[in-house]
Amino acid sequence: METYEWTCETESAEATRAIGARLGQLLRNGDVLALIGDLGAGKTVFTQGVAEGLGIRVPVTSPTFVLINCYRAADGRVLQHADCYRLTAASAEMWDIGLTDLMVDDQILIIEWADRILDLLPTARLEISLTYLDANRRRLVCRAHGAHYIELLRQIACTDTGHTVPELTDVACA
Ligand SMILES: Nc1ncnc2c1ncn2[C@@H]1O[C@H](COP(=O)(O)OP(=O)(O)O)[C@@H](O)[C@H]1O
Ligand SMILES: [Mg+2]
Repeated sequence: METYEWTCETESAEATRAIGARLGQLLRNGDVLALIGDLGAGKTVFTQGVAEGLGIRVPVTSPTFVLINCYRAADGRVLQHADCYRLTAASAEMWDIGLTDLMVDDQILIIEWADRILDLLPTARLEISLTYLDANRRRLVCRAHGAHYIELLRQIACTDTGHTVPELTDVACA
């Protein structure tokens, strides 16, 4: 499957949120977003941005304890926000509670700690790895798998969010 990678660094939580918001405007039901990164890397902040872009007005909180939160946007798009952090056998437990049932055409699924359930993820997906650089800076490595996500990522990579987002690489790989 064709992949495309775009890397940027954000200088603030707001800048990370702004990239998420741009993505949220473009997402459609059926999309799957895999977020990877340590505690405090910014996965929930990014998801809050996505929700904002989707037009979800209620506060998005971390689903660390409830495992999955569900939000509905005014235009009918549905955001499922899952978190695998607290699970010990994450794949088996997420399978048991039906995470894969949420990878369907009528919902958007965002998964924090997605690297813990790689075997459950669809091959076509957008993967975002967040790395802590210092108190206010994070590196976001965004990897699109499949034509639909490549198109999405290209659009985000071209967007001016109003925040300084230095672009580091822009790599298309076979
Ligand atoms: N550039 C940045 N991007 C994202 N979060 C940042 C950034 N700089 C500082 N932060 C702070 O880092 C924390 C990230 O927390 P959170 O999104 O809950 O992380 P995670 O969900 O990955 O555990 C927040 O307190 C946020 O304000
Ligand atoms: Mg989180």
